[in-house]
Amino acid sequence: MSVLSDEEFSATVRSISGARGLPNRLYVDPESAEAERQTVFRNNWTGIGFAHDVPNAGDAVPVTFLGWPLLMLRDRKGRVKVFHNVCRHRGHPLIDKKCSGLAMLRCPYHSWAYGLDGSLRSTPLIGGVGVNEVEGFDRSRFNLVEVRSEVWFGVVFIDMSGVAPPLSERTDAIEARWPGADLARLVSGGDRAQFALTVECNWKLAVENYCEAYHLPFVHPDLNSYSPLEDHYTIAERHFAGQGSMNYKGNDALGGKPFPEFEAWPAEKREIAEYVAFFPNVLFGIHRDHGFAILLIPQGPARTEERIQLFYVGDTVPEDPAMASVIDAHARQWRQVFEEDLGVVAGMQRGRTSPGFDGGVFSPVLETPTHAFHRWTAEQLNG
Ligand code: FES
Ligand SMILES: [Fe+2]
Repeated sequence: MSVLSDEEFSATVRSISGARGLPNRLYVDPESAEAERQTVFRNNWTGIGFAHDVPNAGDAVPVTFLGWPLLMLRDRKGRVKVFHNVCRHRGHPLIDKKCSGLAMLRCPYHSWAYGLDGSLRSTPLIGGVGVNEVEGFDRSRFNLVEVRSEVWFGVVFIDMSGVAPPLSERTDAIEARWPGADLARLVSGGDRAQFALTVECNWKLAVENYCEAYHLPFVHPDLNSYSPLEDHYTIAERHFAGQGSMNYKGNDALGGKPFPEFEAWPAEKREIAEYVAFFPNVLFGIHRDHGFAILLIPQGPARTEERIQLFYVGDTVPEDPAMASVIDAHARQWRQVFEEDLGVVAGMQRGRTSPGFDGGVFSPVLETPTHAFHRWTAEQLNG
């Protein structure tokens, strides 16, 4: 299936100086959104939630992602698992709200029950009143259908295709950039360190805006005053792209209390912070004293939910009551930056309905990350 014409494809993937951006219809049409779902999202590791959405064994939460009804749970061994949220009997969803303390998943329709490993454990009355088994019915053939999943940087990723290369093949290249960041030490800052934004644009515009610093002086004058455009560099790799800042001074420099830092963060990179979009839909930020992840959850072609979560190094920050107001201020600061982007991404979305726009062009210096994302997307769409 070729979603882009040959002409559109070659115009997008050619070298940046002569390249054109993806065509308007990829930002507005339901048909294009469906094509993306079947390629971009189905064939790649896609972020659907956070591991701390199910903090304890026996927790489960329903997640509808791009219309796919899923459920995420933590099993008895403490592992996060993702299943299709649908009973193998007559197809009723198993859960419709967050649950905790579960030993089983029991379907509300005819009460079939599944273990947290997905195995079908009981089929009440299947053989008639008082008879819970029936000749010829092999339970083991009707376990819940699991979706391949992995956790990285606190994010639960799924591979709907089931055949994508291991997630680490793609994330290793990001980790290699951050030799001092022991991601296993990142702990979610909890409820006060998370917020959600609804952005009135296609999810791709949120990625595109995130991975360039070009707009910094114009859209984020505050941020630009302490982390100016000239102190930024671009990152444009095969499966991720973004920007780095060489001028990150730490939370205390911004009026907060200092946060614990990664012990192994290299001294010569002390003021480096990086912001990368991991294609397709998760945006990461890393600093010597905190990280964040943003999940982009498309809600139709022209609207995207963003879930933003801040993480700290070790659990002293979230567990120290004296840090609560510091986390609040920190979350407010990031919220302000991301809210400043709401207007421009919505503006780009409106522009995508104009016959006077044909995908646009890029700054060959400042927008190599955006072009890398367009190239990646075009390749995914056209197989
Ligand atoms: S649909 Fe689930 S038990 Fe019948
Ligand atoms: Fe921005």
